[in-house]
Amino acid sequence: MNTVVLPFDDAAIARAAELVRAGQPVAVPTETVYGLAADATNPQAVAAIYAAKGRPSFNPLIVHVSDLDLARTLADFPAPALRLAEAIWPGPLTIVAPLMPKSPIASLATAGLSTVAIRVPAHPAMQALLRAAGLPLAAPSANASGTISPTRAEHVLKSLGGRIPLVIDGGRTMVGLESTIVAIDDAGLRLLRPGQLSAEDLAALARVPFIASDSNRIEAPGQLASHYAPALPLRLSADSARDDEWLIGFGAIAGDRTLSDSGDLVEAAANLFDALHEADASGRSAIAVAAVPDNGLGVAINDRLRRAAAPR
Ligand code: TXA
Ligand code: MG
Repeated sequence: MNTVVLPFDDAAIARAAELVRAGQPVAVPTETVYGLAADATNPQAVAAIYAAKGRPSFNPLIVHVSDLDLARTLADFPAPALRLAEAIWPGPLTIVAPLMPKSPIASLATAGLSTVAIRVPAHPAMQALLRAAGLPLAAPSANASGTISPTRAEHVLKSLGGRIPLVIDGGRTMVGLESTIVAIDDAGLRLLRPGQLSAEDLAALARVPFIASDSNRIEAPGQLASHYAPALPLRLSADSARDDEWLIGFGAIAGDRTLSDSGDLVEAAANLFDALHEADASGRSAIAVAAVPDNGLGVAINDRLRRAAAPR
């Protein structure tokens, strides 16, 4: 793929919006770092982000929206979260909140979680793209997995050149560090990822206590689950269903529901979390999954399936 670099202007935004609406990821500056943005409501577009980054695992992504009103249609913000959003957005702050019922956000963007990380970015290029595309955009940093976050268009090109269609060049990003991520309700504010804004200052703005979290206890009850896994036991590399299993198929193995009957890994990634949720709710006593090849997006799919199959 030929990667085009366009300076930030109306024509570049119009082209980027066209690509995003067609399900492609594009690199665009935000005030923190360059993001690799794709339609958060289109599961195949979200899968394309992972394919371009070559990430070996699926993590929930940050969903970017143009304004708080739009954010409130996607997530259910408790009152202190709204106070904070009103004080800081647009800006380098991400808030994790429960997804609205029937939210259009693709399950791959939240990695199957019932919460979503949302932010309203301040950079004029990302703002213009959000408004031109008229969509929420999932956007991790625009760099290949395992490399440092890009603060200039040249960094993006060096890392993802040939793998994405477009980079919008808006010069150097101001903050240079990913957004501060918080989870917040009446009980207090928890810091999930440090950034430029300090958690103590944010808690004061939201008028709630700052809950310092001890990193050893992140997975303890009451803490935010950072990974979705099905409740039922899961068996890997199944050729057919045994006993009372719900079979998730791939390729020639049809199953009760397939990840991709044509063996397409982008389609399989796009379907993964919906298929796991459906299997979990099937009323059967266990889940089996057909083998998925361990290349390209299959690496991230298998990482998630192995974790789901591990004894808990
Ligand atoms: O500055 C930024 O935030 C950049 C620019 C491009 O906007 N974006 C960025 O996105 O860093 P991303 O998708 O790489 O951030 C993912 C982080 C991970 O640490 C992930 O665990 C956390 O957000 N996260 C996302 N959804 C979450 C959720 N529902 N619960 C807890 N953490 C979540
Ligand atoms: Mg990153």
